[in-house]
Amino acid sequence: MKKEVVLSGIRPTGFLHLGNYFGAMRNYVRMQDEYDCYFFVANWHSLTTHPDTKELQNAVHRVIAENIACGLDLNKVALYVQSDVPEIAELYLYLNMLAYKGELEKTTTFKDKVRLQPDNVNAGLLTYPVLQAADILIHRATKVPVGKDQEQHLEMARNFAQRFNHRYGEVLPEPQAFNYGGELVKILSLDGNGKMSKSENQLNTIYLADSDDLLRKKIMKAKTDQGPEETNSAKPDYIDNLFTIMKLVSTPDTVEKFEHDFNASSAGNCIIRYGDMKKQLAEDLIAFIQPIREKATNIQEDKAWLSSLIKLGAEKARESASATLKEVRQAIGMNYS
Ligand code: TRP
Repeated sequence: MKKEVVLSGIRPTGFLHLGNYFGAMRNYVRMQDEYDCYFFVANWHSLTTHPDTKELQNAVHRVIAENIACGLDLNKVALYVQSDVPEIAELYLYLNMLAYKGELEKTTTFKDKVRLQPDNVNAGLLTYPVLQAADILIHRATKVPVGKDQEQHLEMARNFAQRFNHRYGEVLPEPQAFNYGGELVKILSLDGNGKMSKSENQLNTIYLADSDDLLRKKIMKAKTDQGPEETNSAKPDYIDNLFTIMKLVSTPDTVEKFEHDFNASSAGNCIIRYGDMKKQLAEDLIAFIQPIREKATNIQEDKAWLSSLIKLGAEKARESASATLKEVRQAIGMNYS
């Protein structure tokens, strides 16, 4: 039986962090046996904000290397760079004729960008969701693992697919958002304020590229307090977050010891030592991140190897993309020879 097609795009905005790893990457790795997977770096989308393209190139290489270092197996998945697959651009062109100015202007992410970059409201920004739909529909993907902020884009992709099928004939299946396994791990910024993110205070975000010393420094600076007021208290967000990370990288015994110490603590009788907890957490985090960081760096520094991996991904992606595009052209009647 043919496996269902899963697809997701990664924006090359700097290094991957711990939230990306446990929120997305780890799930991609789990999906690779069960589904026909396509993962790609959305570098065309990046151009909508006019980045320094030299830096963009570096970021694309790093993201590819990090994804492989995290365990994506290139014999199982297609991992590629968007701009290596021109078929996406052609489908984007056809879908643009089915996307209306009014609905594009109403998109939340577009309105946010208009506020953020009023001097650069380009057509690429307006049609961002159309390009994203082309990314998905070009492989006829039905499952798209994305966060809540992308649901509107997915709904638009479904609308474009429907309109295409209605006008030209059934070619494109409607994609759905996909939360693998249900239990989503959410990692907060180390100050406890909101989700761990790439753009905020760099010291509050743990990157897979951080050196051992930097990891120690960041964890030791993470927000804590005087300890709980009473035994068995609820944990404040920033403390709970340290436990969340500990559960992901430390042994169950370690977690249990600090859980016990926390629950036994009260005002005037503080058993839990956050300093000790952070020291332990830092070492366990280092043991977890070090091999990923080193593998990613090895891949990134071996230019010939990296280039061959990127070519392999492009070939796989183009095979599937050109098969869809052929049907798309036939359905529209854009086949003349
Ligand atoms: N817009 C997505 C984001 O901001 C990235 C993306 C581009 C994407 N194309 C996609 C995600 C296709 C899923 C499917 O994260």
